Amino acid sequence: MKALRKAVLPVAGLGTRFLPATKAMAKEMLPVVDKPLIQYAIDEARAAGIDQFCMVTGRGKTALVEHFDVAYELEATLRERNKQTELKMLHDAQMPPGAMVAVRQQVPLGLGHAIWCARAFIGDDPFAILLPDDLILSDVPCMVQLARAYRETGGNVVAVAQVLHEHKSRYGILEVGADDGRLVEVRGLVEKPHPDDAPSDLSVIGRYILLPDVIRHLAVLERGTGNEVQLTDGMARMIGNTPFHGLRYEGRRFDCGDKIGFLEAQIAFALRRPEMADAVRTFLKTYQESA
Ligand code: UTP
Repeated sequence: MKALRKAVLPVAGLGTRFLPATKAMAKEMLPVVDKPLIQYAIDEARAAGIDQFCMVTGRGKTALVEHFDVAYELEATLRERNKQTELKMLHDAQMPPGAMVAVRQQVPLGLGHAIWCARAFIGDDPFAILLPDDLILSDVPCMVQLARAYRETGGNVVAVAQVLHEHKSRYGILEVGADDGRLVEVRGLVEKPHPDDAPSDLSVIGRYILLPDVIRHLAVLERGTGNEVQLTDGMARMIGNTPFHGLRYEGRRFDCGDKIGFLEAQIAFALRRPEMADAVRTFLKTYQESA
């Protein structure tokens, strides 16, 4: 089994659910408390031992790559002012030379197409996918949990979560085989089914570890649900050829591509910060009382 070293971060979507904020700014640069979504995703991947990154970008997304570059003027000014804490924050975000590449998806034809755009980077290696707008609050980073499951099974592993009946039509839904309560055998996958036709209530969320074989299946570039090239369809074609499991991860997921999910994430992540938790709690209590 090959070690997991690579991650693909698709960030070429239009972010229409977050307009007007995303008119001239990438959704993945939106901060939760003080860190952009993209940095949460990169930090999570790094925690799992991943050290090679590929961003699939589109028009107006250059800030995402810049965020991981050196900021000479800013660093010089911070050094002059002896702002050590802030300097450390900048260094934590920086990428080692050559560790990140960006490829372009000129037209957002779907998540499957975005992953296919990273095919030269992926080569013959297993790789992780992290959708930065899915933010997960957990004690053990979600990608660390997935990487463990990959080492156990040697095949494809996706993070899965239980969804409400009426929300099944928003996600890729699993058809479930053997289930030990933690790992679920994936027998089938269907993208955004009608709730009454969904094979289970387990949905795929934005964390995956896939074998490179998926690229061959995506290469047909067949349009699926929503007239987009769906990653779900490419993954479904691998079922039966290689082990494929869903992992019920420990943690709470926030859909930061959605305005309510984003607001919930702000509060949940702020409450986890010792220096601001009390102030946020007091505000929520008093504001509720006065509203
Ligand atoms: P979403 O389904 O959230 O789509 O994509 P979106 O375009 O970003 O946002 P909405 O639905 O219009 O509000 C999930 C992830 O896949 C990427 C997005 O950038 C996001 O990280 N994606 C999606 C691409 O890179 N290319 C695509 O063609 C579609």
